[in-house]
Amino acid sequence: MNILTFPTDAELNEAGAGIITGLVQTKPNAVLGLATGSTPIGIYKEMIRTFRKNMVSYKQATTFNLDEYVGLPASDPQSYAYYMKEHLFDHIDASPERTHIPSGTAADPEAECKRYDALLESYGQIDLQLLGLGHNGHIGFNEPDHSLIRGTHVVKLSDQTRDANARFFETPERVPTHAITMGVGTILKAKTILLVVKGADKADIVHRALTGEITTECPASLLQTHPHLVVLLDAEAGRHF
Ligand code: GLP
Repeated sequence: MNILTFPTDAELNEAGAGIITGLVQTKPNAVLGLATGSTPIGIYKEMIRTFRKNMVSYKQATTFNLDEYVGLPASDPQSYAYYMKEHLFDHIDASPERTHIPSGTAADPEAECKRYDALLESYGQIDLQLLGLGHNGHIGFNEPDHSLIRGTHVVKLSDQTRDANARFFETPERVPTHAITMGVGTILKAKTILLVVKGADKADIVHRALTGEITTECPASLLQTHPHLVVLLDAEAGRHF
């Protein structure tokens, strides 16, 4: 595990974008696992900046997003499909047919999970999986539990997660109750995992996840078992290291 702490947000974002851009420069058909939430926005901005300097092309790259809210269409500004267009896809040359996100409006969500897994499987392995961290240690939407599910599945969101994400919605009641998420098995199968954590409110959970007991009650703790885990922390999130 390689833990890097950055004094400024700008330096962290540059480093994160540099790792992703560097991969796509050397392997144009790379398979990227992408994340949403507030954490990766700065990294995406930096990736866009590099793209605009003609330093990289995403045309041949394939992307798989971690998760999507059940019930939100891609046209809903709170959906992760909308987020990805707004923060990244609309600003780079990614091929729409190669950017994959679970559908939140599939008539049969279970079938949608199977479709997503089969698609992931057809690519073999994600080269680099970008991850944020939930306040309760969740990754993607894999919530703390007695056991965790390997593949893509429908999950009931915890009250803590719904509260944390309520800031993006008009009213807390509008936060969806369920989501589709890649499972921890798929996440851990990625060649490299890039975990990014920002802010004082995540200092305790990131320390527990990376140095504490490995337990499904803290899904991010399973990342300790990954052979190529790179962790980018801002000074606040990294204060216990
Ligand atoms: C959401 C997402 C996660 C994300 C986490 C942290 O629930 N499903 O993928 O990592 O919350 O979000 P933020 O970066 O906004 O703190």
